[in-house]
Amino acid sequence: MITPSLDACGAFVSYLETLFALSMNDLHTMINDFHGDMRTGLSGHEGSLKMLPSFVDKPTGREKGAFITLDLGGTHFRILAVQLDGKGGTTVLGTRQTAVPRKVMQGRGEALFDFMAEGMDAFLTKRGFERTRTYDLAFTFSFPVEPTGVSAGMLIKWTKGFTATGVEGKDVVILLKEALRRKGIDCIRVTALANDTVGTLMARSYRDPSCDLGVILGTGTNACYREKCAHIARLEGAPPEGFMIVNMEWGNFDKVRRTCYDRDLDAASVNPGAMPLEKMVSGMYLGEIARRVLVDAVQRDVLFLNAAGALKRFKRKGSLTTPEMSLIEGDDTSDLAGVHDFLKQKGVSGSSIEDRRLLKRLCGWVSGRGAGLAAAATAAVVTWMDPELKHRHTVAVDGSLFEKYTRFSAKMRAVLTDLYGKKADNIAWVHSRDGSGRGAAIIAAVAATASPQGPGHSSKANFP
Ligand code: BGC
Repeated sequence: MITPSLDACGAFVSYLETLFALSMNDLHTMINDFHGDMRTGLSGHEGSLKMLPSFVDKPTGREKGAFITLDLGGTHFRILAVQLDGKGGTTVLGTRQTAVPRKVMQGRGEALFDFMAEGMDAFLTKRGFERTRTYDLAFTFSFPVEPTGVSAGMLIKWTKGFTATGVEGKDVVILLKEALRRKGIDCIRVTALANDTVGTLMARSYRDPSCDLGVILGTGTNACYREKCAHIARLEGAPPEGFMIVNMEWGNFDKVRRTCYDRDLDAASVNPGAMPLEKMVSGMYLGEIARRVLVDAVQRDVLFLNAAGALKRFKRKGSLTTPEMSLIEGDDTSDLAGVHDFLKQKGVSGSSIEDRRLLKRLCGWVSGRGAGLAAAATAAVVTWMDPELKHRHTVAVDGSLFEKYTRFSAKMRAVLTDLYGKKADNIAWVHSRDGSGRGAAIIAAVAATASPQGPGHSSKANFP
Protein backbone atom coordinates (compact mmCIF):
# COMPACT_ATOMS: atom_id res chain seq x y z
CA MET A 1 0.00 0.00 0.00
CA ILE A 2 1.48 3.33 -1.06
CA THR A 3 0.82 6.29 1.25
CA PRO A 4 0.66 9.73 -0.30
CA SER A 5 2.83 12.58 0.92
CA LEU A 6 0.31 14.51 3.00
CA ASP A 7 2.06 17.85 2.53
CA ALA A 8 2.22 17.58 -1.24
CA CYS A 9 -1.33 16.29 -1.34
CA GLY A 10 -2.71 19.02 0.89
CA ALA A 11 -0.89 21.73 -1.07
CA PHE A 12 -2.29 20.51 -4.39
CA VAL A 13 -5.81 20.18 -3.02
CA SER A 14 -5.77 23.75 -1.64
CA TYR A 15 -4.28 24.96 -4.90
CA LEU A 16 -7.17 23.42 -6.83
CA GLU A 17 -9.76 24.76 -4.44
CA THR A 18 -8.42 28.30 -4.82
CA LEU A 19 -8.02 27.92 -8.56
CA PHE A 20 -11.73 27.25 -9.07
CA ALA A 21 -13.07 29.60 -6.38
CA LEU A 22 -14.75 32.86 -7.36
CA SER A 23 -14.24 35.77 -4.96
CA MET A 24 -16.71 38.63 -4.56
CA ASN A 25 -14.18 40.75 -6.39
CA ASP A 26 -14.11 38.26 -9.31
CA LEU A 27 -17.91 38.35 -9.52
CA HIS A 28 -18.18 42.15 -9.43
CA THR A 29 -15.39 42.50 -11.99
CA MET A 30 -17.16 40.04 -14.26
CA ILE A 31 -20.45 41.95 -13.99
CA ASN A 32 -18.69 45.22 -14.89
CA ASP A 33 -16.86 43.62 -17.80
CA PHE A 34 -20.13 42.09 -18.98
CA HIS A 35 -21.75 45.53 -19.03
CA GLY A 36 -18.79 46.85 -21.04
CA ASP A 37 -19.08 44.08 -23.63
CA MET A 38 -22.88 44.47 -23.81
CA ARG A 39 -22.35 48.16 -24.57
CA THR A 40 -19.78 47.34 -27.27
CA GLY A 41 -22.02 44.69 -28.87
CA LEU A 42 -25.09 46.92 -28.88
CA SER A 43 -23.13 49.74 -30.47
CA GLY A 44 -22.40 47.40 -33.38
CA HIS A 45 -18.67 47.13 -32.69
CA GLU A 46 -16.79 43.85 -32.55
CA GLY A 47 -16.83 42.47 -29.00
CA SER A 48 -17.15 39.13 -27.24
CA LEU A 49 -20.95 39.57 -26.81
CA LYS A 50 -22.64 39.64 -30.21
CA MET A 51 -25.97 41.15 -29.00
CA LEU A 52 -28.01 39.94 -31.98
CA PRO A 53 -31.46 41.47 -32.61
CA SER A 54 -34.33 38.97 -32.85
CA PHE A 55 -36.85 41.26 -34.60
CA VAL A 56 -39.54 40.35 -32.08
CA ASP A 57 -40.70 41.79 -28.77
CA LYS A 58 -42.42 39.93 -25.96
CA PRO A 59 -45.84 38.48 -26.75
CA THR A 60 -49.07 39.95 -25.39
CA GLY A 61 -50.47 36.53 -24.46
CA ARG A 62 -53.29 36.98 -26.98
CA GLU A 63 -51.45 35.43 -29.94
CA LYS A 64 -53.29 32.47 -31.46
CA GLY A 65 -52.54 29.81 -33.98
CA ALA A 66 -51.22 26.38 -34.76
CA PHE A 67 -47.57 26.03 -35.68
CA ILE A 68 -45.00 23.37 -36.35
CA THR A 69 -41.63 24.00 -34.76
CA LEU A 70 -38.36 22.39 -35.68
CA ASP A 71 -35.65 22.59 -33.07
CA LEU A 72 -31.95 21.93 -33.70
CA GLY A 73 -29.51 22.95 -31.03
CA GLY A 74 -27.58 20.16 -29.42
CA THR A 75 -27.61 16.43 -29.07
CA HIS A 76 -31.26 16.15 -30.15
CA PHE A 77 -33.45 17.34 -32.96
CA ARG A 78 -37.14 17.86 -32.17
CA ILE A 79 -40.31 18.59 -34.06
CA LEU A 80 -43.38 19.87 -32.25
CA ALA A 81 -46.93 20.75 -33.28
CA VAL A 82 -48.04 23.56 -30.99
CA GLN A 83 -51.40 25.24 -30.51
CA LEU A 84 -51.63 28.69 -28.89
CA ASP A 85 -55.01 29.46 -27.32
CA GLY A 86 -54.72 33.27 -27.25
CA LYS A 87 -55.07 33.26 -23.43
CA GLY A 88 -51.48 32.46 -22.43
CA GLY A 89 -51.87 28.70 -22.88
CA THR A 90 -49.91 26.41 -25.19
CA THR A 91 -50.67 22.79 -26.02
CA VAL A 92 -48.18 20.46 -27.62
CA LEU A 93 -50.25 18.32 -30.00
CA GLY A 94 -47.49 16.12 -31.27
CA THR A 95 -43.79 15.68 -30.92
CA ARG A 96 -40.91 13.77 -32.47
CA GLN A 97 -37.40 13.66 -31.02
CA THR A 98 -34.32 12.08 -32.58
CA ALA A 99 -30.67 12.02 -31.51
CA VAL A 100 -28.39 13.78 -33.97
CA PRO A 101 -25.63 11.31 -34.87
CA ARG A 102 -22.09 12.70 -34.65
CA LYS A 103 -21.48 11.92 -38.31
CA VAL A 104 -24.46 14.14 -39.18
CA MET A 105 -23.27 16.97 -36.88
CA GLN A 106 -19.81 16.83 -38.37
CA GLY A 107 -20.48 15.82 -41.96
CA ARG A 108 -21.75 17.82 -44.93
CA GLY A 109 -24.19 20.66 -44.28
CA GLU A 110 -26.52 19.38 -46.98
CA ALA A 111 -26.73 16.02 -45.25
CA LEU A 112 -27.56 17.70 -41.92
CA PHE A 113 -30.47 19.61 -43.49
CA ASP A 114 -31.61 16.48 -45.37
CA PHE A 115 -31.64 14.68 -42.03
CA MET A 116 -34.03 17.33 -40.68
CA ALA A 117 -36.22 17.20 -43.80
CA GLU A 118 -36.47 13.42 -43.47
CA GLY A 119 -37.54 13.83 -39.83
CA MET A 120 -40.16 16.35 -40.93
CA ASP A 121 -41.45 14.02 -43.65
CA ALA A 122 -41.85 11.18 -41.13
CA PHE A 123 -43.59 13.52 -38.66
CA LEU A 124 -46.07 14.86 -41.24
CA THR A 125 -46.92 11.34 -42.40
CA LYS A 126 -47.26 9.87 -38.93
CA ARG A 127 -49.48 12.70 -37.69
CA GLY A 128 -51.62 12.71 -40.84
CA PHE A 129 -50.92 16.29 -41.99
CA GLU A 130 -52.59 17.08 -45.30
CA ARG A 131 -49.91 17.85 -47.85
CA THR A 132 -52.27 20.07 -49.84
CA ARG A 133 -52.53 22.70 -47.09
CA THR A 134 -49.90 25.12 -45.84
CA TYR A 135 -48.52 25.00 -42.32
CA ASP A 136 -46.40 27.70 -40.69
CA LEU A 137 -43.12 26.54 -39.29
CA ALA A 138 -40.87 28.21 -36.74
CA PHE A 139 -37.26 27.03 -36.94
CA THR A 140 -35.35 27.07 -33.66
CA PHE A 141 -31.71 27.00 -34.64
CA SER A 142 -29.64 27.42 -31.49
CA PHE A 143 -26.34 28.68 -32.79
CA PRO A 144 -25.04 32.21 -33.33
CA VAL A 145 -27.04 33.58 -36.24
CA GLU A 146 -26.82 37.09 -37.69
CA PRO A 147 -30.50 37.72 -38.38
CA THR A 148 -31.62 39.72 -41.38
CA GLY A 149 -35.33 39.57 -40.50
CA VAL A 150 -37.70 37.47 -38.42
CA SER A 151 -37.37 34.48 -40.75
CA ALA A 152 -33.87 34.82 -42.19
CA GLY A 153 -30.37 34.70 -40.78
CA MET A 154 -26.83 33.63 -41.46
CA LEU A 155 -24.91 31.18 -39.29
CA ILE A 156 -21.88 33.06 -37.95
CA LYS A 157 -20.03 30.07 -36.49
CA TRP A 158 -20.91 26.57 -35.31
CA THR A 159 -20.71 25.77 -31.58
CA LYS A 160 -21.33 22.72 -29.34
CA GLY A 161 -19.32 20.27 -31.43
CA PHE A 162 -21.13 20.88 -34.75
CA THR A 163 -18.83 21.34 -37.74
CA ALA A 164 -21.09 20.47 -40.72
CA THR A 165 -19.48 21.98 -43.79
CA GLY A 166 -20.92 24.65 -46.06
CA VAL A 167 -23.29 26.19 -43.50
CA GLU A 168 -21.25 28.96 -41.86
CA GLY A 169 -21.91 32.22 -43.67
CA LYS A 170 -25.15 30.91 -45.24
CA ASP A 171 -28.82 31.69 -44.55
CA VAL A 172 -29.99 28.64 -42.61
CA VAL A 173 -33.65 29.18 -43.54
CA ILE A 174 -32.74 28.95 -47.23
CA LEU A 175 -30.78 25.75 -46.52
CA LEU A 176 -33.80 24.32 -44.71
CA LYS A 177 -36.21 25.30 -47.49
CA GLU A 178 -33.92 23.69 -50.09
CA ALA A 179 -33.77 20.46 -48.08
CA LEU A 180 -37.59 20.41 -47.70
CA ARG A 181 -37.90 20.92 -51.44
CA ARG A 182 -35.42 18.08 -52.14
CA LYS A 183 -37.63 15.86 -49.98
CA GLY A 184 -40.74 16.95 -51.90
CA ILE A 185 -42.29 18.77 -48.92
CA ASP A 186 -44.12 21.86 -50.12
CA CYS A 187 -46.78 22.24 -47.44
CA ILE A 188 -44.42 24.08 -45.08
CA ARG A 189 -43.83 27.82 -44.96
CA VAL A 190 -40.94 28.93 -42.70
CA THR A 191 -42.21 32.05 -40.95
CA ALA A 192 -39.78 32.45 -38.06
CA LEU A 193 -36.17 31.72 -37.19
CA ALA A 194 -35.47 31.62 -33.46
CA ASN A 195 -32.72 31.06 -30.95
CA ASP A 196 -33.58 28.70 -28.06
CA THR A 197 -33.07 31.48 -25.49
CA VAL A 198 -35.60 33.70 -27.28
CA GLY A 199 -38.05 30.78 -27.47
CA THR A 200 -37.60 30.14 -23.76
CA LEU A 201 -38.25 33.78 -22.87
CA MET A 202 -41.29 33.91 -25.18
CA ALA A 203 -42.77 30.69 -23.78
CA ARG A 204 -42.72 32.02 -20.23
CA SER A 205 -43.67 35.61 -20.97
CA TYR A 206 -46.71 34.43 -22.97
CA ARG A 207 -48.35 33.96 -19.56
CA ASP A 208 -46.05 35.91 -17.20
CA PRO A 209 -45.38 39.59 -17.99
CA SER A 210 -42.60 39.83 -15.38
CA CYS A 211 -40.39 37.55 -17.49
CA ASP A 212 -37.69 39.58 -19.24
CA LEU A 213 -34.80 37.14 -19.53
CA GLY A 214 -34.38 33.76 -21.19
CA VAL A 215 -31.42 31.56 -20.26
CA ILE A 216 -30.24 28.18 -21.51
CA LEU A 217 -28.07 26.04 -19.26
CA GLY A 218 -27.74 22.79 -21.16
CA THR A 219 -25.29 21.38 -23.70
CA GLY A 220 -24.46 25.04 -24.40
CA THR A 221 -25.28 28.24 -22.58
CA ASN A 222 -26.68 31.59 -23.62
CA ALA A 223 -29.21 34.29 -22.71
CA CYS A 224 -31.50 36.86 -24.24
CA TYR A 225 -33.29 39.84 -22.71
CA ARG A 226 -35.56 42.75 -23.61
CA GLU A 227 -33.78 45.87 -24.88
CA LYS A 228 -34.91 49.31 -26.04
CA CYS A 229 -34.64 49.50 -29.85
CA ALA A 230 -33.02 52.92 -29.38
CA HIS A 231 -30.04 51.17 -27.74
CA ILE A 232 -29.49 48.73 -30.62
CA ALA A 233 -27.32 50.82 -32.92
CA ARG A 234 -27.41 48.40 -35.84
CA LEU A 235 -31.21 48.55 -36.04
CA GLU A 236 -31.72 51.34 -38.49
CA GLY A 237 -35.30 52.43 -38.98
CA ALA A 238 -36.78 50.67 -35.93
CA PRO A 239 -39.17 52.81 -33.85
CA PRO A 240 -36.94 54.16 -31.05
CA GLU A 241 -39.67 53.85 -28.43
CA GLY A 242 -40.08 50.13 -29.12
CA PHE A 243 -38.44 47.09 -27.50
CA MET A 244 -36.85 44.01 -28.98
CA ILE A 245 -35.46 40.75 -27.60
CA VAL A 246 -31.69 40.57 -28.00
CA ASN A 247 -29.83 37.26 -28.25
CA MET A 248 -26.60 37.94 -26.37
CA GLU A 249 -24.58 34.82 -27.26
CA TRP A 250 -23.05 35.07 -23.79
CA GLY A 251 -21.19 31.78 -24.18
CA ASN A 252 -18.60 33.76 -26.10
CA PHE A 253 -17.90 36.19 -23.21
CA ASP A 254 -14.12 36.24 -22.93
CA LYS A 255 -13.19 38.21 -19.82
CA VAL A 256 -12.99 35.20 -17.55
CA ARG A 257 -9.91 33.90 -15.72
CA ARG A 258 -9.13 30.52 -17.26
CA THR A 259 -7.10 27.73 -15.63
CA CYS A 260 -4.57 25.52 -17.38
CA TYR A 261 -7.33 22.87 -17.58
CA ASP A 262 -9.63 25.28 -19.43
CA ARG A 263 -6.87 26.24 -21.84
CA ASP A 264 -6.04 22.60 -22.61
CA LEU A 265 -9.73 21.76 -23.10
CA ASP A 266 -10.08 24.69 -25.47
CA ALA A 267 -7.02 23.71 -27.49
CA ALA A 268 -8.40 20.17 -27.93
CA SER A 269 -11.89 21.37 -28.92
CA VAL A 270 -13.30 21.64 -32.47
CA ASN A 271 -13.52 25.45 -32.05
CA PRO A 272 -10.35 26.61 -30.25
CA GLY A 273 -10.50 30.20 -29.03
CA ALA A 274 -14.30 30.40 -29.30
CA MET A 275 -16.98 30.36 -26.57
CA PRO A 276 -14.74 30.74 -23.47
CA LEU A 277 -17.63 31.17 -21.00
CA GLU A 278 -19.62 28.30 -22.51
CA LYS A 279 -16.57 26.06 -22.09
CA MET A 280 -16.49 26.83 -18.33
CA VAL A 281 -20.22 26.62 -17.67
CA SER A 282 -22.17 24.30 -19.92
CA GLY A 283 -23.01 20.62 -19.84
CA MET A 284 -20.93 19.78 -22.87
CA TYR A 285 -17.75 20.77 -21.02
CA LEU A 286 -18.05 20.45 -17.21
CA GLY A 287 -17.35 16.71 -17.21
CA GLU A 288 -14.34 17.18 -19.43
CA ILE A 289 -12.83 19.89 -17.20
CA ALA A 290 -13.31 17.67 -14.14
CA ARG A 291 -11.74 14.74 -16.01
CA ARG A 292 -8.66 16.81 -16.81
CA VAL A 293 -8.29 17.82 -13.15
CA LEU A 294 -8.81 14.21 -12.08
CA VAL A 295 -6.09 12.91 -14.43
CA ASP A 296 -3.68 15.58 -13.19
CA ALA A 297 -4.39 14.63 -9.57
CA VAL A 298 -3.82 10.93 -10.36
CA GLN A 299 -0.56 11.70 -12.15
CA ARG A 300 0.61 13.71 -9.13
CA ASP A 301 -0.17 10.76 -6.82
CA VAL A 302 -2.84 12.76 -5.02
CA LEU A 303 -5.81 10.63 -6.07
CA PHE A 304 -6.37 6.88 -6.55
CA LEU A 305 -2.86 6.00 -5.39
CA ASN A 306 -3.93 2.45 -4.56
CA ALA A 307 -6.85 2.13 -6.94
CA ALA A 308 -6.03 0.11 -10.01
CA GLY A 309 -7.01 1.28 -13.47
CA ALA A 310 -7.87 4.93 -12.73
CA LEU A 311 -5.47 6.57 -15.13
CA LYS A 312 -6.30 4.14 -17.92
CA ARG A 313 -10.05 4.57 -17.45
CA PHE A 314 -10.05 8.35 -17.34
CA LYS A 315 -7.26 9.11 -19.81
CA ARG A 316 -9.60 9.20 -22.79
CA LYS A 317 -11.33 12.48 -23.67
CA GLY A 318 -15.01 12.33 -22.74
CA SER A 319 -14.57 9.48 -20.24
CA LEU A 320 -16.16 11.51 -17.43
CA THR A 321 -19.46 13.09 -18.41
CA THR A 322 -21.40 15.93 -16.79
CA PRO A 323 -24.32 13.64 -15.77
CA GLU A 324 -21.73 11.37 -14.07
CA MET A 325 -20.32 14.36 -12.17
CA SER A 326 -23.83 15.19 -11.03
CA LEU A 327 -24.26 11.62 -9.80
CA ILE A 328 -20.97 11.84 -7.86
CA GLU A 329 -21.99 15.14 -6.29
CA GLY A 330 -25.43 13.81 -5.48
CA ASP A 331 -24.11 10.91 -3.39
CA ASP A 332 -24.76 11.96 0.21
CA THR A 333 -24.11 8.58 1.85
CA SER A 334 -21.42 8.57 4.56
CA ASP A 335 -19.20 6.07 2.73
CA LEU A 336 -20.00 7.45 -0.74
CA ALA A 337 -21.27 4.04 -1.79
CA GLY A 338 -22.74 5.45 -5.01
CA VAL A 339 -19.38 6.90 -6.04
CA HIS A 340 -17.76 3.56 -5.18
CA ASP A 341 -20.21 1.71 -7.44
CA PHE A 342 -19.77 4.25 -10.20
CA LEU A 343 -15.97 3.80 -10.06
CA LYS A 344 -16.32 0.02 -10.06
CA GLN A 345 -18.53 0.18 -13.14
CA LYS A 346 -15.88 2.32 -14.78
CA GLY A 347 -13.31 -0.38 -14.01
CA VAL A 348 -11.58 1.41 -11.12
CA SER A 349 -11.31 -0.88 -8.13
CA GLY A 350 -9.96 -0.31 -4.61
CA SER A 351 -10.80 3.38 -4.23
CA SER A 352 -10.45 4.66 -0.65
CA ILE A 353 -13.03 6.83 1.08
CA GLU A 354 -10.50 9.72 0.83
CA ASP A 355 -10.31 9.18 -2.93
CA ARG A 356 -14.07 9.31 -3.22
CA ARG A 357 -14.34 12.40 -1.02
CA LEU A 358 -11.72 14.20 -3.06
CA LEU A 359 -13.39 13.18 -6.32
CA LYS A 360 -16.69 14.57 -5.04
CA ARG A 361 -15.04 17.83 -3.92
CA LEU A 362 -13.27 18.15 -7.24
CA CYS A 363 -16.56 17.84 -9.14
CA GLY A 364 -18.07 20.40 -6.76
CA TRP A 365 -15.31 22.93 -7.48
CA VAL A 366 -15.80 22.64 -11.23
CA SER A 367 -19.62 22.77 -11.16
CA GLY A 368 -19.59 25.43 -8.43
CA ARG A 369 -17.48 27.70 -10.60
CA GLY A 370 -19.84 27.04 -13.54
CA ALA A 371 -22.89 27.91 -11.42
CA GLY A 372 -21.15 31.01 -10.05
CA LEU A 373 -20.29 32.27 -13.52
CA ALA A 374 -23.85 31.59 -14.74
CA ALA A 375 -25.24 33.48 -11.74
CA ALA A 376 -22.90 36.44 -12.29
CA ALA A 377 -23.82 36.56 -15.98
CA THR A 378 -27.52 36.57 -15.08
CA ALA A 379 -26.90 39.26 -12.47
CA ALA A 380 -25.11 41.35 -15.10
CA VAL A 381 -28.10 41.25 -17.45
CA VAL A 382 -30.66 41.97 -14.73
CA THR A 383 -28.67 44.91 -13.35
CA TRP A 384 -28.21 46.22 -16.89
CA MET A 385 -32.01 46.51 -17.11
CA ASP A 386 -32.56 47.50 -13.47
CA PRO A 387 -29.35 48.71 -11.76
CA GLU A 388 -30.92 49.01 -8.28
CA LEU A 389 -32.86 45.74 -8.54
CA LYS A 390 -36.07 47.58 -7.74
CA HIS A 391 -38.37 45.36 -9.80
CA ARG A 392 -39.15 41.69 -9.99
CA HIS A 393 -37.48 39.80 -12.84
CA THR A 394 -38.49 36.33 -13.88
CA VAL A 395 -35.72 34.48 -15.63
CA ALA A 396 -37.06 31.65 -17.79
CA VAL A 397 -34.46 28.87 -17.85
CA ASP A 398 -34.28 25.63 -19.75
CA GLY A 399 -31.60 23.00 -20.21
CA SER A 400 -30.42 19.80 -18.60
CA LEU A 401 -27.83 21.45 -16.37
CA PHE A 402 -30.44 23.62 -14.68
CA GLU A 403 -33.04 20.89 -14.62
CA LYS A 404 -30.98 17.88 -13.65
CA TYR A 405 -27.54 18.72 -12.25
CA THR A 406 -27.35 18.17 -8.48
CA ARG A 407 -27.69 21.49 -6.63
CA PHE A 408 -26.63 23.58 -9.65
CA SER A 409 -29.57 25.96 -9.31
CA ALA A 410 -29.12 26.14 -5.52
CA LYS A 411 -25.49 27.17 -6.03
CA MET A 412 -26.53 29.87 -8.48
CA ARG A 413 -29.06 31.22 -6.00
CA ALA A 414 -26.46 31.26 -3.22
CA VAL A 415 -24.14 33.39 -5.39
CA LEU A 416 -26.95 35.87 -6.11
CA THR A 417 -27.68 36.15 -2.38
CA ASP A 418 -23.98 36.74 -1.68
CA LEU A 419 -24.03 39.49 -4.28
CA TYR A 420 -27.28 41.27 -3.43
CA GLY A 421 -28.56 39.97 -0.09
CA LYS A 422 -32.35 40.29 0.27
CA LYS A 423 -32.65 42.08 -3.07
CA ALA A 424 -31.69 38.82 -4.78
CA ASP A 425 -35.29 37.74 -4.10
CA ASN A 426 -36.29 40.04 -6.95
CA ILE A 427 -34.64 37.62 -9.36
CA ALA A 428 -36.62 34.42 -9.79
CA TRP A 429 -35.34 31.58 -11.94
CA VAL A 430 -38.18 29.45 -13.28
CA HIS A 431 -37.88 26.33 -15.33
CA SER A 432 -39.50 26.80 -18.73
CA ARG A 433 -39.83 23.22 -19.90
CA ASP A 434 -39.74 22.74 -23.69
CA GLY A 435 -39.46 26.52 -23.83
CA SER A 436 -37.50 26.65 -27.03
CA GLY A 437 -40.06 24.60 -28.99
CA ARG A 438 -43.23 26.16 -27.60
CA GLY A 439 -41.64 29.60 -27.62
CA ALA A 440 -40.71 29.33 -31.30
CA ALA A 441 -44.43 28.93 -32.07
CA ILE A 442 -45.09 32.14 -30.15
CA ILE A 443 -42.38 33.91 -32.16
CA ALA A 444 -44.09 32.75 -35.35
CA ALA A 445 -47.40 34.05 -33.98
CA VAL A 446 -45.88 37.42 -33.05
CA ALA A 447 -44.37 37.60 -36.54
CA ALA A 448 -47.76 36.69 -38.06
CA THR A 449 -49.41 39.50 -36.08
CA ALA A 450 -47.05 41.93 -37.76
CA SER A 451 -47.45 40.33 -41.20
CA PRO A 452 -49.78 41.68 -43.92
CA GLN A 453 -52.04 38.61 -43.52
CA GLY A 454 -52.82 39.81 -40.01
CA PRO A 455 -52.82 38.08 -36.65
CA GLY A 456 -53.46 34.42 -36.21
CA HIS A 457 -53.82 33.65 -39.89
CA SER A 458 -52.16 30.28 -39.50
CA SER A 459 -54.76 29.15 -36.96
CA LYS A 460 -56.91 28.48 -39.99
CA ALA A 461 -54.63 25.58 -40.85
CA ASN A 462 -55.98 23.37 -38.08
CA PHE A 463 -53.85 20.40 -37.20
CA PRO A 464 -55.03 16.84 -37.64
C1 BGC B 1 -25.18 28.81 -29.04
C2 BGC B 1 -26.39 29.63 -28.68
C3 BGC B 1 -27.39 28.78 -27.93
C4 BGC B 1 -26.71 28.11 -26.73
C5 BGC B 1 -27.66 27.22 -25.95
C6 BGC B 1 -24.61 28.11 -27.81
O1 BGC B 1 -23.58 27.25 -28.18
O2 BGC B 1 -24.18 29.62 -29.62
O3 BGC B 1 -26.98 30.19 -29.82
O4 BGC B 1 -28.44 29.59 -27.50
O5 BGC B 1 -25.63 27.33 -27.19
O6 BGC B 1 -28.20 26.23 -26.73
